[in-house]
Amino acid sequence: MLLTGKKILIGISGSIAAYKSILLVRLLVKAGAQVKIVMSPAAKDFVSPLVLSTLSNNEVLADLSNKNSWANHVQLGRWADVMLIAPASCNTLSKMANGICDNLLMAVYLSATCPVAVAPAMDEDMWHHPATKRNLDLLESYNNRLIPVQNGELASGLFGDGRMAEPEYIFHFLIANYFRSSSLKNKKVIVTAGPTYELLDPVRFISNHSSGKMGYAIAEAFYLQGADVTLVTGPTNQIVNFSAIDVVNVMSSNEMFDAVTVRMDDIDIALMCAAVADYKPVAIADNKIKKKDTNWQLELEKTKDILQFIGDNKKPNQFIAGFALETNNEKENAILKLKNKKADCIILNSLNKDNSVFGADKNKITIIDSLEVAHNFESKSKREVANDIVSFIISKITDEKK
Ligand code: CTP
Repeated sequence: MLLTGKKILIGISGSIAAYKSILLVRLLVKAGAQVKIVMSPAAKDFVSPLVLSTLSNNEVLADLSNKNSWANHVQLGRWADVMLIAPASCNTLSKMANGICDNLLMAVYLSATCPVAVAPAMDEDMWHHPATKRNLDLLESYNNRLIPVQNGELASGLFGDGRMAEPEYIFHFLIANYFRSSSLKNKKVIVTAGPTYELLDPVRFISNHSSGKMGYAIAEAFYLQGADVTLVTGPTNQIVNFSAIDVVNVMSSNEMFDAVTVRMDDIDIALMCAAVADYKPVAIADNKIKKKDTNWQLELEKTKDILQFIGDNKKPNQFIAGFALETNNEKENAILKLKNKKADCIILNSLNKDNSVFGADKNKITIIDSLEVAHNFESKSKREVANDIVSFIISKITDEKK
């Protein structure tokens, strides 16, 4: 799991946004993290320590001393890989900036030796007050990382800046800033994803069922291994969870071809996952084509094959991978694609009754390497498949260096 063995300490202060911390704890624990929680006394009015201790599988601390025992705040800050204060209310933010140690949360923050991330939450007017601005600048000067607030509905009922970031956003912020691997540091990767739309006229197009899920998961898996990633994507409903991934939106196979080839000089790894149309209409009508009483013969011409082009023009240190979606003679066809398109590996998707692929969350792949050796993988979630593909490519690149 993504966060297995990672230790995250969450500080919760008194703000209505504290309810979001419940969801955040759940996301972190589900991803394998060990989570400990410390609350300010005011936070207990907004969210129950019992819920938080149940979800985190740990005792939640809120008081400096409890009956006869003393909470060891120094130990907590040393235990954690990262401390996150979410929500950080205006009051807590001010105490953090000024070193005021009047509760356990503040004692833990001030003694924490691990990196600290802060997710503020307050009403818009407080957010824009110069005192808050000064406190935020001070926190940044202490190397605390600020998680941007969002614009939206606030506890006051007003709309504006100051909403705490959503749990999913904070989850990905923590991963991007503290838990990325450096295996592919300084490597530039390009991934294509999704379908292409080949226009017939201003309202119609030819396309396919590709959802883009696999390509997006691969782009994120490369990013989590430390690479600089560009994702060239056809139209999909997918979202990218990491803002540092450079997303280039295209529509047609021609646009995708241009977007990829113009970037290839700098690229170390290219993975062509898009379901690019093989044919496109010879002409795009300027106006909507009207129906007639007779049948219609549509003339199509071949599109440019992106994988073929980058395979033919491959530079010595580039690693190029493609997909093959096959319904019959799967392995033979995949090997043909490997050879013809001069790829370093082909990832074979079998479209049969055991593997539905399009839009599905699971996928079963076989990777054919440059020596035509087949590596079989179990049916897994597309995220896990993406990790397998990226680990495979890392192992191939490392082998080549030896
Ligand atoms: N591909 C591409 N550009 C195209 C067509 C395909 O880059 N115009 C890439 C796909 O992204 C994939 C690989 O080529 O990585 C294989 O595509 P696929 O459509 O399965 O194979 P084709 O070569 O088009 O052959 P066929 O449709 O006959 O199986």
